[in-house]
Amino acid sequence: MKKKRTTVRTTQGGNGKKPKRAAKKAKNKPEILDLTTVDEIIARYHGEKGALIPVLQEVQGHYGYIPEGAVPRIADGLKVYQSSIYGVMTFYTQFNLKPIGRNIVRVCCGTACHVKGAERVSSKFREVLKIPVVETTEDRNFTLEQVACIGACSLAPAVMVNDEVHGKVTPDEAVTILGQYKK
Ligand code: FES
Repeated sequence: MKKKRTTVRTTQGGNGKKPKRAAKKAKNKPEILDLTTVDEIIARYHGEKGALIPVLQEVQGHYGYIPEGAVPRIADGLKVYQSSIYGVMTFYTQFNLKPIGRNIVRVCCGTACHVKGAERVSSKFREVLKIPVVETTEDRNFTLEQVACIGACSLAPAVMVNDEVHGKVTPDEAVTILGQYKK
């Protein structure tokens, strides 16, 4: 039987490569999101107990986050309440409800880093990326987060980009660090 192709509209969008005016227009233009993969993942776990977390992990693995439109599909497919799904997603920090950047910048704001000027470093990242904390740049290259101790206190103030630790970071070095991860 031919599989029904399903899509939802989402307000997330913009790829950062368009001319300014076009990019602005694209920002509000709904993006068509194909949810066929969500249905395929749910089908693979049909009837299995405790399938919610693996399904969410696979959905996030495919889309990079859990699209809002996927939640009712998962609820129907696994026979769970949507509120339970949101409960799980907010409890486990591994799940993202919004698209995240290809690079995650985590500025440590633990005590040692705070004392050594983490706020100035964080402020520089916010300024350069033009986003507040826990936001993603329009081109989806970077997501900026502030986190508690990342276990590199002797290198304070420390910043982690993806799985790489950068130590004794000055505000000026924030720019250099970002440059290393730009496409
Ligand atoms: S407080 Fe920042 S690495 Fe420990």
